[in-house]
Amino acid sequence: MSEERFSPGLAGVIAGETSIACVEQGKLLYRGYAIADLATTCTFEEVAYLLLNDELPSAKQLQGIKDKLAKYRPLRSEILDALRRTPKDTPMMDVLRSMVSYTGHFDPVKGEGEEADRERAIWLTSQIGAIIAARFRLMNGNEPIEPMDGLSHAAQILYQCHGEVPDPLAAELIDLTLVLYAEHDFNASTFTARVICSTMSDLTSAITGAIGALKGPLHGGANEAAMEMLCKFKSGDEAKAWITNALANKEKVMGFGHRVYKNGDHRADILEGKLRKLAHQLGEETWLDIYDAIRHPMVHEKHIFPNVDYPCGLTYYLLGLPLDLYTPLFVASRITGWSAHFLEQSIDNRIYRPLSIYVGHGERKVPPIDER
Ligand code: SDX
Repeated sequence: MSEERFSPGLAGVIAGETSIACVEQGKLLYRGYAIADLATTCTFEEVAYLLLNDELPSAKQLQGIKDKLAKYRPLRSEILDALRRTPKDTPMMDVLRSMVSYTGHFDPVKGEGEEADRERAIWLTSQIGAIIAARFRLMNGNEPIEPMDGLSHAAQILYQCHGEVPDPLAAELIDLTLVLYAEHDFNASTFTARVICSTMSDLTSAITGAIGALKGPLHGGANEAAMEMLCKFKSGDEAKAWITNALANKEKVMGFGHRVYKNGDHRADILEGKLRKLAHQLGEETWLDIYDAIRHPMVHEKHIFPNVDYPCGLTYYLLGLPLDLYTPLFVASRITGWSAHFLEQSIDNRIYRPLSIYVGHGERKVPPIDER
């Protein structure tokens, strides 16, 4: 009996071993640390170091990665010029895909191999944050601004977007989303990065491909799509009427469901608690009515739970961020997980080449053109 079996979307298929994240209904671990523990005790910089090095940083090592992020943050004039020339209506995810690929021509890290790629990952992490902010400024008719010393990566992105030191709560919430989004084993964009790595291609190519995969609304694009959905309603009653109809028509509701989590996404639970506090602090309880009007029937009638993208969309919205920035912020975080997987794939590599079942025409003769 042949061992090959066909599974749409590779559902249930084990495509590799990893020591980076454990993604199960019962737990989500980054390098052995529970996400709830990391979310309450670590910053994004600490988590980025952990993913890339398999250990949490000491104070000295943490300062080291912060110094590297600062060193790599300034954008070259070629990148700024290209951002200016990119058509105004180009979505930020498309801009990121192009700019990450283009910035690869100015890669400042010399050499190949694990250490060089680990350094490249930090360079790209910093560049992506700066590209998002510079594009945001240009889109709003403002000039990009230089980074400010001493800010966290999350605060620096907000500062370079708005030109003012961000409110501490906003910086803290963005940092939390960067921690929650950083890594999630063999999701579609990470698997894309690993496939590209498996041909012995380069890190910048793998990250460019991963950005393309993450853009889709079935994957990272869901945080924008979920917020677009919520923006259609002015009240919980309006949302309730809509979801009743949507479920009757078997529509896909963005921000819900997951291939692995069938009883809830650990990250959504963590972020939802912060979202509810933020909404109350801002007096935005109507948004919670709308949020819960969609959430309730999905959980209690369809038994389909929110994934991280559902609370993230409304969190970013209440922080005043435009929808076009939501999936790019997912990229700003997941670049660390993608890079960790690139390094892991490089160490013990076999090129990915799955099989397929041929369902096309039976063999046939080529007719001369005047008989076609
Ligand atoms: C992310 O893989 C990762 O880890 C991804 C991610 C990460 O950190 O990298 O967690 C980030 O991408 C989260 C997912 C964001 N996407 C969305 O919110 C889009 C909406 N979700 C669905 O498209 C879906 O739930 C997926 C894509 C997330 C999961 O797809 P699966 O595992 O292939 O599930 P499925 O489509 O086979 O659904 C199983 C059943 C179906 O019903 P039947 O057709 O069998 O009757 O559940 C239904 C689906 O219709 N269903 C939904 C639904 N999700 C599943 N019905 C309505 N709305 C939904 N959101």
